[in-house]
Amino acid sequence: MFEKIKLPYPFSGLEPYIDTKTMMVHYERHYGAYVDNLNKYIAENPALAGLSLEDLLRNYPDDEQIRHNAGGVFNHEFFFTGMRPGARSQIIIGLSGKLLQSINRDFGSLEEMKNQFSAAANGVFGSGYAWLVAYPNKKLAIITTENQDTPIQMGLKPLLCIDVWEHAYYLKHLNLRADYVRDFWYLVDWVRVAERLG
Ligand SMILES: [Fe+2]
Repeated sequence: MFEKIKLPYPFSGLEPYIDTKTMMVHYERHYGAYVDNLNKYIAENPALAGLSLEDLLRNYPDDEQIRHNAGGVFNHEFFFTGMRPGARSQIIIGLSGKLLQSINRDFGSLEEMKNQFSAAANGVFGSGYAWLVAYPNKKLAIITTENQDTPIQMGLKPLLCIDVWEHAYYLKHLNLRADYVRDFWYLVDWVRVAERLG
């Protein structure tokens, strides 16, 4: 049985960049539905019980229920925990050291990485995610995934993602995805991104 993670901030914590109602609906209904559907599917398929999200995604890449629901749980947890209130004040701490060196090595500058990530997020056609990932050889790259596919299935280490399904921004930003992507940068928890890089 998977339980919903506890968010590390209240639903209002990401105001004014992501509004309270969006966070509440996103967490309770969208993310919650993926958790419920995954648990239902596992209950019907006992061989899947006890596996982690990553193992489910790695071991059953052709199982549509796993792709949709384990992917939906993984992606939402990764997205929610990559943000924090007041993130702007910790940029320098999170971005010192190995993370910033890797970004500079592979993108030229932080600004260029952010530009490429934003362009990728704005360019996702339909529903999906944009990601900063690390390849097994440690090289960082920007990728996008469709629907609830994850970098795990591609053998990549995810570092940061943005959910660009319309439910992630429509209540506040309407159809202006680029405004939502711009606002996302005020929330990125760079300390968490650095931890994920390891
Ligand atoms: Fe979502």
